[in-house]
Amino acid sequence: MSRLVQAQRLEGNDKNVWVEFVKLAATYSTVNLGQGFPDFSPPDFVKEAFVKAVGGKDARLHQYTRVFGHPTLVKILAQFFGKLLGREIDPLTNVLVTVGAYEALFCCFQALVDNGDEVIIIEPYFDCYEPMVKMAGGTPVFIPLRPVRAGKLMSSGDWQLDPAELASKFTKQTKAIVLNSPNNPLGKVFSRKELEVIADLCAKHDVLCFSDEVYEWLVYDGKEHVRIASLPGMWDRTIAIGSAGKTFSATGWKVGWTVGPDRLVKHLRTVHQNSVYHCATAAQEAVAQGFQREFEHYGKPDSYFVQLPQELQQKRDRLVRSLSAVGMKPIVPEGTYFLIADLSEFKVPDLPESDEPYDYRFVKWMVKNKGLAAIPVSAFYSTPQKKNFEHLIRFCFAKEEATLKAAEDILQQWMLMKSGQ
Ligand SMILES: Cc1ncc(COP(=O)(O)O)c(C=O)c1O
Repeated sequence: MSRLVQAQRLEGNDKNVWVEFVKLAATYSTVNLGQGFPDFSPPDFVKEAFVKAVGGKDARLHQYTRVFGHPTLVKILAQFFGKLLGREIDPLTNVLVTVGAYEALFCCFQALVDNGDEVIIIEPYFDCYEPMVKMAGGTPVFIPLRPVRAGKLMSSGDWQLDPAELASKFTKQTKAIVLNSPNNPLGKVFSRKELEVIADLCAKHDVLCFSDEVYEWLVYDGKEHVRIASLPGMWDRTIAIGSAGKTFSATGWKVGWTVGPDRLVKHLRTVHQNSVYHCATAAQEAVAQGFQREFEHYGKPDSYFVQLPQELQQKRDRLVRSLSAVGMKPIVPEGTYFLIADLSEFKVPDLPESDEPYDYRFVKWMVKNKGLAAIPVSAFYSTPQKKNFEHLIRFCFAKEEATLKAAEDILQQWMLMKSGQ
């Protein structure tokens, strides 16, 4: 390979499922349950805060702000997560505001992964982890969650890691493990016991944990989101990553953050200040006001962090019913706003043959012929595992009732056609 285009820049990192499927959905779909974003508005209190930030008297909100995070935002994030983690958090050294959780992830890998380092990634995984590790010069080491129970209606909790297999992935080269709970795309919420197994291995092998918690508020059926940084010994080796996009249903604002010990966050600051420098000031101010409001309403029935999961749980249940009715077997997620459906018993006779995995072909066919968009789940797996998980597709249910009804109508029509075949 040419000296000018080295592997860690291009080869194998240039494919992106979102680029391909977002375009496809925009071209063909009438009902888009593909990419992960709500089609409803953020709550009024954050929208009003944004309007105030750009339309108010404070001209400073249109200008550069503090590079590592707007002062009002880092202050309230430190207060909020300090309360959740039960420890003092310094807004200036323990918190870094980033352009979405995406940049937070990028900073973690660029700052803390070096050539030759191994990074453990739990499958299925948010697809960007793999190229980000490679671009930093690291080697991804994969371990799949596997269903431990088969049944009529499975839950994401039925998918688990094999502790012995997990232990075997830790080597002298392991620098970090990426944890994503609640997990995209499966919706699995790791239990305290499962996190303890991971934490023990991190401590034993002196390994860092990049804990992607962007769906931290989206947990259902009374399940608890346990923050791995709160487990004994884990604060010192964990970077927790959050997203205002997911937290306040405003993915386009692109405000994210990391919370962790200064000894780690200081290296993220170096990457951040020498790449994007800082995130839009007015958006940060609006998110700060949103957190301030939620801090005051914490745990109360009118808290957005209480109300949003209640609403989403109903949407989840509606989509579970619609998919079950037509024979796509949904795996009920305990968290996130995604749902995986198993297509093993839902065959499409005229699916074009190609080298692509079955789920890619299925989704492309479904978008073009039925106007319904989803995302193929094999995109969330490493190359060797793709063939084992190509019978699954992911739907996003953070959608208006009318959108979910339209999806339901498409599925029902489809079933009627199938039964008349
Ligand atoms: C698991 C996970 N992490 C990070 C992100 C990126 O979040 P943001 O939109 O804040 O950059 C997403 C977005 O879908 C995600 O699903």
